[in-house]
Amino acid sequence: MNEKQRLESQQVKADNSADKKSEKDYSKYFQSVYIPPSLKDAKKRGKEEVEYHDDFAIPEVFRGMGEGKKFYIRTYGCQMNEHDTEVMAGIFTALGYQPTNTVDDANVILLNTCAIRENAENKVFGELGHLKSLKLEKPDLLLGVCGCMSQEESVVKRILEKHHFVDMIFGTHNIHRLPQILNEAYLSKEMVIEVWSKEGDVIENLPKVRKGKTKAWVNIMYGCDKFCTYCIVPYTRGKERSRRPEDIIQEVRHLAAQGYKEITLLGQNVNAYGKDFTDIEYRFGDLMDEIRKIDIPRIRFTTSHPRDFDDHLIEVLAKGGNLVDHIHLPVQSGSSDTLKIMARKYTREQYLELVRKIKRAIPSASLTTDIIVGYPNETEEHFEETMSLYREVGFDAAYTYIYSPREGTPAAKMQDNVPMEVKKERLQRLNALVNETCALKMKEYGGQVVEVLVEGESKKNSEVLAGYTTKNKLVNFKGPKSAIGQIVKVKITGTKTWSLNGDMVEEAAAIEVE
Ligand code: 5AD
Ligand code: SF4
Repeated sequence: MNEKQRLESQQVKADNSADKKSEKDYSKYFQSVYIPPSLKDAKKRGKEEVEYHDDFAIPEVFRGMGEGKKFYIRTYGCQMNEHDTEVMAGIFTALGYQPTNTVDDANVILLNTCAIRENAENKVFGELGHLKSLKLEKPDLLLGVCGCMSQEESVVKRILEKHHFVDMIFGTHNIHRLPQILNEAYLSKEMVIEVWSKEGDVIENLPKVRKGKTKAWVNIMYGCDKFCTYCIVPYTRGKERSRRPEDIIQEVRHLAAQGYKEITLLGQNVNAYGKDFTDIEYRFGDLMDEIRKIDIPRIRFTTSHPRDFDDHLIEVLAKGGNLVDHIHLPVQSGSSDTLKIMARKYTREQYLELVRKIKRAIPSASLTTDIIVGYPNETEEHFEETMSLYREVGFDAAYTYIYSPREGTPAAKMQDNVPMEVKKERLQRLNALVNETCALKMKEYGGQVVEVLVEGESKKNSEVLAGYTTKNKLVNFKGPKSAIGQIVKVKITGTKTWSLNGDMVEEAAAIEVE
């Protein structure tokens, strides 16, 4: 921070200083203030073993820090971020804060950010613009930026230069330090920045306040070592490191005992689970084989990299039971040339062979995917290969994106020779195919009876209930409110492109089940 920025940021903080003096002095518990993030350091993948910490505890001195105060967290991006928000909500609660659903009555606001594409970042900068006036009205409000964007040097620099009213920035490896960071922000007149570029540890026993009572997320691993050339995640989330199987199994068992009906196992690349263990030979297939024995109705996982999807895993998934028959398998492109430039390390043929293997072992499996269009060097022929692969696999649905250059990644240095109009036109053509295929697949459900895990009232109509099938199809149906949180049978009476309509049926009436 230069002198000008320091003075400017002190000005905003000076307004809060009277309030800050009334806080207790916890400064001896704070060890570091400004550690700038570095994408270059984040790329280093050393040989050091992952450190496991299972002694997380909120220091006695911080308990009660949040008494009479409210927190609000806005989450952007993937399920990993959603789950990090649950951990931060757990820490806030342990500190005595209450949650609130509006920014207006919050004493602390956190933006848990996503860096995956430029538009995700623009949303956050837009939101910071809105929050500036709130911060000016309420100088003692604490405003923080965390999540993936905080791991980027350019973002930290931009916030320092243009958004001095932000009180704290902390990274994805610093979540467990939230009590110390908050305390420092109350005491300090300067923006508190704590972003470690380290490869990352595994911290157990973090408190969590889960968003729902039916579905829960469980991290099985953190980070990514794949370094696909477009992707910022290996830099923002650190190296691949797996939680110990016994910790995961214990967490899933505990959730089952609490009545949760569905668990989604989370990792940037769950198929790389266990690769980092030095003392045991234990991979994702082994973990799934143990988790399927736990008495809980549905187990999902996300997200998979085709390269690490091994035969043992397919064999275990084919055992079915609570392992659902839906697999999200990002392909990114149907052209081997583009896949090579993306450094995905598989070809079109290898991907198709994997799909054939999965379908042979699990004939009912539904597959969904992620696709990027308009990659540097993508020709019309390459794009057509993506379209033909989509048709050949017969995906149930896809998330589709225009390539967005991310500073610090290899692709950002490539010459992007695909004009934006061409990228947009390709995205439209792909989306038309995705919608058409999805609508056709949905039609097949007409008249069938499916099992639905009921999440609550439908967003549009409180008279209607909504939930998901094992294949993750949204079903809106008429049924009693007592069905919320249960798995019930629903007869499909109408199909749309993205959802199904139906009526709940009694057990005895269920003849055909998905
Ligand atoms: N541009 C566009 N899409 C991207 N994704 C990841 N990085 C980028 C990028 N730079 C997409 C990939 C990934 C999904 C989570 O986001 O399809 O699977
Ligand atoms: Fe990004 Fe590739 Fe890792 Fe997925 S596997 S998080 S796309 S680098």
